[in-house]
Order: sequence, then C-alpha cells, then structure tokens
Amino acid sequence: MVSLVAGVTLVVLVSMVTLDLVCGGQEGGEDSRLAHTHLTHTQRHYTPQTGGARSTTFSYIQRTARSGIFQNNGIFEGIRLADAESAGPFHGHEDKAKFKNEKMEIAMRQPNAIDDNECNEINCIGNFNKNGNAGPKHNSIGNIEFNGVVKNTVLTDDPIGHSDKGPVVLTHSGPVRGLTLDKAHVFYGIPYAAPPVGPKRWTAPKPVSPWTQPYDATFPRPACMQVCAGEFSEMCPPKISEDCLYLNVFVPLSVDLSKPKTKALPVMVWIHGGDFIAGSASKPLYDGRFISNYSNTLVVNMEYRLGAFGFLVTGKDPQSSAVGNYGILDQQAALQWVHQNIAAFGGDPAKVTLFGESAGAQSVSLHLMMQISEPLFRHAAVQSQPFSIPLKTRFDAMKLGRDFVKLTNCSASDLACLRSLSSHTILKAQVKAGSKIINPFRFLEMFETWGPYIDGQLLKEQPITAFQKGRWQSYKPVILGTTSEEGVIFVYGVFTESVSVLECIVYTTAIFKQHTLSILYKYVPLYHNQDRRIMLSQIVTDFVFLCPTRRSARSAISLGGSVWMYVFDHSPSDHNIWSGLTFCYDRACHGAELPFLFDSAPETNLTLTAQETHLANQMVCYWGAFAHSGDPNSRTEQTPFCSQQRLPVWPRYTSAESWPILNFTLQSHPQHGNREDICDFWDELDIY
Ligand SMILES: *[C@@H]1O[C@H](CO)[C@@H](O)[C@H](O)[C@H]1NC(C)=O
Ligand SMILES: *[C@@H]1O[C@H](CO)[C@@H](O)[C@H](O)[C@H]1NC(C)=O
Ligand SMILES: *[C@@H]1O[C@H](CO)[C@@H](O)[C@H](O)[C@H]1NC(C)=O
Ligand SMILES: *[C@@H]1O[C@H](CO)[C@@H](O)[C@H](O)[C@H]1NC(C)=O
Repeated sequence: MVSLVAGVTLVVLVSMVTLDLVCGGQEGGEDSRLAHTHLTHTQRHYTPQTGGARSTTFSYIQRTARSGIFQNNGIFEGIRLADAESAGPFHGHEDKAKFKNEKMEIAMRQPNAIDDNECNEINCIGNFNKNGNAGPKHNSIGNIEFNGVVKNTVLTDDPIGHSDKGPVVLTHSGPVRGLTLDKAHVFYGIPYAAPPVGPKRWTAPKPVSPWTQPYDATFPRPACMQVCAGEFSEMCPPKISEDCLYLNVFVPLSVDLSKPKTKALPVMVWIHGGDFIAGSASKPLYDGRFISNYSNTLVVNMEYRLGAFGFLVTGKDPQSSAVGNYGILDQQAALQWVHQNIAAFGGDPAKVTLFGESAGAQSVSLHLMMQISEPLFRHAAVQSQPFSIPLKTRFDAMKLGRDFVKLTNCSASDLACLRSLSSHTILKAQVKAGSKIINPFRFLEMFETWGPYIDGQLLKEQPITAFQKGRWQSYKPVILGTTSEEGVIFVYGVFTESVSVLECIVYTTAIFKQHTLSILYKYVPLYHNQDRRIMLSQIVTDFVFLCPTRRSARSAISLGGSVWMYVFDHSPSDHNIWSGLTFCYDRACHGAELPFLFDSAPETNLTLTAQETHLANQMVCYWGAFAHSGDPNSRTEQTPFCSQQRLPVWPRYTSAESWPILNFTLQSHPQHGNREDICDFWDELDIY
C-alpha cells in the first residue's frame, strides 16, 4: 500500500512537470488561474460533498500533489464516471441526472421525488398503455406489492371485459393471458420469481407460487427500484417497485398459440443496461415486437434487481448477511424460466441467444463464465461491454456495504433490521453510499458503484481475465462489438466545459498510474485541440471498450470459437434519441445502436430516415439470423422481410482474413479492423 501511494505520488509529480509540456504547455499561462478556479465549472453543477470516504480517500492526493488544485473535492464530483456508464439512449438521461448529484440530492430530499407509492416523479398510472390497443386503465395495478405479500394480478371478473380476449398460454406456474398486437403476441409482466420483498429481500430468487386463473399479462409491471430524477425524468420508468421480478415475452404472429406447436422458433433474451442501478426491460426502446416480427424469433426481456437491492454485500454467510450478486441470480432465474416455459409459447429452449448492452453485456459475459448458466443459452451477443471496468473484489464490495449500512442505523450483522427498512430508505442510502470512492487504487470501479462482485463461487474472476485465459464458454458463437465513440458520454457527461492540461493529467494519472506518461505520449500528438475532452473520450473508447473487446475476440478465436465483430459508426439523425445530451448529437455515443437493434423507432417516437431504417432492418436481420443458426449470415429460416434487406456478408473474425469487422453505418460494409495500431499499443501495456 505504502509503495503504491509513493508510486502514485511520484507519477503525479512527474506528470505535473513533464506533461505540462506535452499535454499543452501553451495553456501554462492559465495554470495559476486554473489552479484556483478551474473547478468552478464543476461547482456550478455538482455540489461538493463534505465528509465521507470520498474526501478521505482523496485527501492523500491533495497532500501529495502539494498544490491547490485538488483542494476542492468538487473535482471528484466531476469524475463520477460511474454515473456515466449508462445504457445509452433513454438511459443516458437517467444517468445524466445522476451526474448532477446536486440535483439528485435535492430530489432525494423532496418527499415527492420518490413518493411512498414507489412512483417516479411522473405519472404512475395509465401511462404505459401505448400499444394502441384500448386496454384497461391499470390504475389498480398500483398496488402489486401489499406489505410484501405476493399477489398475482389475476384476471377474474375484469370490469373492462378484457379478460376473455388475448391468447392464453399455460406456463409451469399457471395460465397467462397476453395481447395480440399489430406485429406480435405480447405477454407483459410474467413473474419469474417470487417478489424479493420482506424476508426475501437479499435472498436468491425463489420460485413463484402457482396460480390457476389466467394471470393478466397485458401490461408491464414496475421496473426495479432506482433513482430517477432530473430534467429527463419523463424517460424514467413510469413506476418502480421492489417487487419487480417480471419478464416480457414477444411471440411472432406466425405462431398460432391456440394450436399444437409445429416448429419451435429461436429465442432472444435481452439483458438491459443501466450501470446495474437503472434501466428497465419494459422501456419502449426495448420493445421486442419488431425483432420478433421481422426475424421470426421470440424475444424475452427481464427486470432484475438493481443497486443495493441487487448487489449489497454485508458478509459471507447468506443466513445472516447480504451476499450480493442477486441481480445476476435473477437473470439466471429468468433464463431458467425461459428454459422451462418457452416451448409453450412456441420457442425452442435449446436455441436461446443471450444479448445485452453495457451492464447488460457485462451480464452476458458473466453468464458465459458461469457453469449454472451454461445449458441455458447457446449463442451470445456482447454489445459495448466496458471490459476494463473491474468488478468489485469482496473487500471493496464489503466496504461499500459497510458504508451503506452505516447510513441505515442498522448493524451490519442485523439482517432483520436491514430487511425492515422501507425501500426508499434503502434507495437513499444506496445513492449516498454510492457517491463515495471505495478504492482509489482501483479507480475505474467508480464507473460502476453497485454491481456484481467476485464472490469466489458464482464469479471467480474478472471477465477480461476469464476471456483472455479461455475460462469461459468460448465454443458458443458470439457477436462482439462497440460503438465508435463510446467514451463521449462518459467524458462529456462529466466535464461540461473544456478540460485543461491539469485535469487531463489528473484523470489519466488516477486511472493509469505509472502508465500515464506512455499513454499521453501516444495520444497527445494526435490531438491538437486545446479542449482535452476529445482526446480523453478516445482514450476511454479505446481502453475501456474497443481494445479489450478486440483482445477478448482474439482470445476466443485462438480457442477455436466463432466470433463476429462490429463497430457501430452511425450518428442517429434524430437528436431526440439523446434526450438533451447535446454532446452526443452527431456522434455514435454509447448506446447509439439500440434503436436500430430493436428497430423500435415507432414506439419511441424517433424518426429514422429511409437509410437509417434500412440500417435498423439489417441489424435486426443479422441478429435474427444469428439467433436462428449461430451465424449472422445464415440464410436458412430467413424471413421474406430479411431477404429484402440485401445483407452484406459479415465475415467471421479471423487473422487469416486480416481481422474483418462489420462497420454498421448507412452503407454497412466489412473492413479490416478498427484502430489496430492503437489497440496493439494497449495490448502491449497489458493493463486491461
Ligand atoms: C408481422 O406482422 C405483420 C403485420 O401484423 C403480420 O402480417 C405478419 O404475419 C407478422 N410476421 C410474423 C413473422 O409474425
Ligand atoms: C439514523 O439515526 C439518526 C439519528 O437518530 C437519524 O437522524 C436518521 O434519520 C436515522 N437514519 C435512518 C435511515 O433511519
Ligand atoms: C410518443 O408520442 C405519443 C403522442 O405524442 C405519446 O402519447 C407517447 O407517450 C410518446 N411515446 C414516447 C415513448 O415518448
Ligand atoms: C466506417 O465506415 C465509414 C464509411 O466508410 C468510415 O468513414 C468510418 O471511418 C468507418 N468507421 C470506423 C470506426 O472504422
């Protein structure tokens, strides 16, 4: 520890001297001003927090830097990159709201921000019925959680008379009644595990109690507990609840649910992103009807526990403590539900493709590493995985847990006390504990405050390590890819104004320590802008996303695996996709591919140009073909819709073909790699 501190100190000091020149000596004249005032722009947006681990962990940097620049912890509010790990459009602003801790704090203090009915700030009711169908107004669903007692919303004598319409499917737990919509049959909100409330809070998901009357699967259930505040709150889930272990099933109209099954169709299971603290499967963005209809596959997406509810660790013994990773177990339970029940919907349980983006991609990787998940899916798509953000160690997860518990007035060993807290108390403590830096030596952890940790049993090592060492299901075909400007949302979401030379040094040093110099020497000559955000964004894109993904792909093929790689390099023309994240306008930010992947623009009120629609259709058809056969180029089972899309051949990733990847853009085409020399540089540093 001591020598590590010394090492960091040295680098800070060395960097301050040398990089002042490389990082933009011309700004030197401003430095004295910057030393005192360059933080003001962050201060305008972030209220520096006082006390707590954040200030103590960084106080050593204050001392070692021996300069005034760190005197205000506001700077570290500014690098809450954790909050920038968003799931892209329609998650971005939720997360952006969280960049602005000040705003969130205010929201948290206002009793109405998260009211006692666990509604978000916006309409809690009647807002979800955007299916065109005149469905019932579901005011009554407001109370799914009755003091922790399981309540199936059973269709009995529905006054609206909706109960006798819609397809009924018999699951292992009981019959469910869904909707037949324009493009697909839809079953919303099927419970795949018992509500994780009361004594079941912080336990592994448990089976649901069976029912006999048809369950009303005609409307989405609440999203899992999450904070949602700020200017983009209209994009927050309409309702949140601790009782949230539900999934949605989309079935193509080609399946006649009233008749015995003929040929079972492939199933695509989506894991949403949102930094393990936000997001929801039921967002209009993730409407599975279009994929389902265009590619003739079933789509399933699930909610899973987020934040402290999903990931709190207070000890090792599951009887007496919270042991974390519940959110991952939830996903696994949903996969098990698919395995057991999807045949009744016309799906093939032996042909499941798991796909996810951002935190969802991290989840997919974990399932590729976990033996229990192995039989539950056959193909995987890992989209924009932040490979270089480490999962927490047990030590760090426990530390976060202790910080959390302190805020609740319970003792860490008193699980009953913790279970008796209201879900809002937990949410508030989650936010507060999550705003502290847990381990400055594993700086990137703060990109993702709450999330899975290496517990030694379920998860034994970091995904990047497992992928490099071949300790994953590398025989499963995978699609791996990133957007071309992943880093922008992180860097610009945090720095609202130009980043100076000093900040540039500080942030790179905090992350890269002794490698800072070589990294800056590599990048600085390529960027002539005074504003270092452009360079920093590229560093984040390369180091966190692109290059470790490439390395994982190469490791997979060295083990004989089949990999298709892509870069999504199109900036959506309709800026509404970014809901006010202006720095993403005309950029292929993190998450830019999602409205294309789901082809869900009609549901999200986005306007795509004809060319963009073509791009979206192509993506759906590649992913659909992959689900059908494990090869995105496969033409067997191709729908007429997909044969019209004239898909270019997407070559498998191999060195023999000079590393071809597919560049998704208005004229998608294969090309040889992406930033190969830069990734060679990162690979050689060997610091993922
Ligand atoms: C797609 O939707 C259209 C319009 O509802 C329908 O005619 C067609 O059968 C659907 N195709 C599939 C594969 O579900
Ligand atoms: C913890 O106790 C303090 C002091 O009694 C009180 O102000 C605070 O509201 C309590 N916090 C919770 C979460 O109950
Ligand atoms: C799309 O627009 C319609 C009509 O303006 C509105 O009712 C609906 O809520 C909007 N959907 C989304 C996802 O914003
Ligand atoms: C993708 O293709 C476009 C058009 O050919 C090109 O301008 C762009 O640089 C490519 N993107 C990447 C990341 O290589």
